[in-house]
Amino acid sequence: MKTILIANPKGGSGKTTLATNLAGYFASRGGRVLLADLDRQRSASDWLSRRPAALPAIHGWNSQSDKKSMGGVKPDWLVVDSPAGMHGDKLSNALKRAERVIVPVQPSAFDMVATRNFLEELCAEKSVRKEKIEVAMIGMRVDARTRAAADLSSFLDAAGFPVLTLLRDAQIYVQAAGEGLSLFDMAPSRTAREMEQWQPLLDWLE
Ligand SMILES: Nc1ncnc2c1ncn2[C@@H]1O[C@H](COP(=O)(O)OP(=O)(O)OP(=O)(O)O)[C@@H](O)[C@H]1O
Ligand SMILES: [Mg+2]
Repeated sequence: MKTILIANPKGGSGKTTLATNLAGYFASRGGRVLLADLDRQRSASDWLSRRPAALPAIHGWNSQSDKKSMGGVKPDWLVVDSPAGMHGDKLSNALKRAERVIVPVQPSAFDMVATRNFLEELCAEKSVRKEKIEVAMIGMRVDARTRAAADLSSFLDAAGFPVLTLLRDAQIYVQAAGEGLSLFDMAPSRTAREMEQWQPLLDWLE
C-alpha cells in the first residue's frame, strides 16, 4: 500500500480537491483506493457520498469509521485528506503513515506565508529530514497571466522541495466536486488542458 498525505494547514488551499481527484485517478486505473478524511468538516466523505455507484469504486474512511478495519479494504493506495490547521502531534501522526506528502499552495501572500511556516514544521520532522518521506509542492488555482502567479513561482522555486505542477483555476474542478466526480471520470474532451497539467504529478506518483 502506498500512502499519500495531502497537507497544508492553510484553509482552502485545495487539499480536498487534490485528494478527491487523486483518489479518482487511482480508481480509474483499477487500483483499490481508500480515501481517508481526517477533516471534521467531512468534505471528502461528502464528495464520496455523492459519487455515482457506476464509477470505479473508492472506499472511504473517516473518524466515524471503524478504526481498525480501514473499512475492511486492503488498498493499493491510501489517499489522506487532512484538515486546515493540522499542526503538532496531529501532523506527526499523519506523517507516520505517509510515504509522500503533497502540499498545494495558492497564489496569495497569505497562503505563501502560512505555507512557509508549515514547510519549516515539516522540515523539523525526522522522517522528512531523513528523506523517508518525499515532499512535493503544487501550485493551485494559478492564473499564469497574473503577477500573483509569478510570485508563487518564485516562492515555490525557493521552497526547497520539488514543484510538480501548477494547476489552473478552472470551473471543472468545482463541477466535479459537486457531482462526486474526479476529472478522471469525465469525458477526455472536457479535461484535455487539465490532463496536461496533471501529468507531471502522476509521473511523480508512479
Ligand atoms: N484548481 C481549482 N480551480 C477552481 N476551483 C478550485 C480549484 N482548486 C480548488 N478549488 C475550489 O477552492 C475551494 C477550496 O478548495 P478545497 O476545498 O479543495 O480546499 P481545502 O484545502 O480542502 O480547504 P479546507 O482547508 O477548508 O479543507 C473549493 O471551493 C474548491 O472547489
Ligand atoms: Mg478540505
